[in-house]
Amino acid sequence: MQIVTTETNNSHRRIINPRLNELPDYPFERLRDLLDPLPAPRNLDPVALSLGEPQHPYPDFVGEILHANRHLYGKYPPVAGTPDFCLAVADWLTRRYDLPHGMIEPERHVAPCAGTREALFRTAFLAVPPTKAGHQPAVLMPNPFYQCYAGAAIAAGAEPVFVSALAENSFLPDFAALDEDILARTALVYFCTPGNPQGAVASLDYLENLVALSRQYDFTLVVDECYAEIYNGATPPAGTLQVCARDGDMSGVLVFHSLSKRSNVAGLRSGFVAGDPDLLTLYRRLSEYGGNPSPLPVYAAAAALWRDEEHVIANRALYVEKFDLAERILSNRFGFYRPEGGFFLWLDVGDGEAATVELWTRAALRVLPGTYLSADGGTGENPGSRYIRVAMVHDRAVMADALGRMAETL
Ligand SMILES: Cc1ncc(COP(=O)(O)O)c(C=O)c1O
Repeated sequence: MQIVTTETNNSHRRIINPRLNELPDYPFERLRDLLDPLPAPRNLDPVALSLGEPQHPYPDFVGEILHANRHLYGKYPPVAGTPDFCLAVADWLTRRYDLPHGMIEPERHVAPCAGTREALFRTAFLAVPPTKAGHQPAVLMPNPFYQCYAGAAIAAGAEPVFVSALAENSFLPDFAALDEDILARTALVYFCTPGNPQGAVASLDYLENLVALSRQYDFTLVVDECYAEIYNGATPPAGTLQVCARDGDMSGVLVFHSLSKRSNVAGLRSGFVAGDPDLLTLYRRLSEYGGNPSPLPVYAAAAALWRDEEHVIANRALYVEKFDLAERILSNRFGFYRPEGGFFLWLDVGDGEAATVELWTRAALRVLPGTYLSADGGTGENPGSRYIRVAMVHDRAVMADALGRMAETL
């Protein structure tokens, strides 16, 4: 591994963390490098379909609550959240997943986070020991994957292991099929359902097997469920805590939920982590040292959002309408399928990077090449290279125009 050094002002050379060398450029940086030098047609409004930032409205009460609680901005907020926030979350989990009453104790089984990205990242620092089974620990994740997982694994000193999530496996990775020596040194698994980018939803059986695997090999299981409320059919995606409810054992399991996608408040920076009380004690401990709790008015607004389902139902209906639209416009082209959950189209265009350039230079559409969300995992083959990811985050009219341009261009 190459040692990174940097010049300081007084021109001494100092060694910085060599692990950072392993972090590839973030996908949006790569996208800027790819597209910024290229002109888009001047007669078309550019549309950003690259970033998963929902543009639907959020409830008015968010602003009202922030304003009503503005006198609390002068106070340092508690890293453990407010009792009211934790209670709202515990009640929501119990309702949403039909958990036994009392299974989720607000002060033991819930911790807030200022958006889930940083919390997912931080979790690697509590779950990855210096060695496991006498070797460098492994952190498993699906491939393609939310980039934070790989960054966290590398920063925590683990080897990221990318497990293909391909169309032929319904886009669900088969962690149990890995070699025994990898499983034995696995310290942490990141899994996402509904998945980003393919929108695959894991069944309760799949999650049950994953929880069993985590117990067999004694690793921490992190399930990122931030898209749980955006789904297509009538049945909501299963949650990992439902598996834990069967025997009342949450050990080794953490689930992450966010208001960014559920309630369209990506800028509020609010989510939570729930599950194993021992892991959560460590999580809070780490937060005391280096965490960044949400301001008290944000906890208040977030609690109200977790208590309200009306805006979530309306939000979901908007996505369903837009997937209807995409189905009409794209029909069976580019391997179109309706994702079971989440808000991305994952389109097989043959060469995702070339299609991205074409869509920008001919249609002023900014999408993300699938290859930027995947790794070749040492196989030389990148499972995302044929795809583009399209975030269906704008309103219906903008999406109708953008998808029409896409169909004409590709
Ligand atoms: C799979 C996945 N997990 C987590 C996040 C983080 O969301 P936030 O930090 O806004 O909660 C995102 C955001 O795009 C995501 O796609």
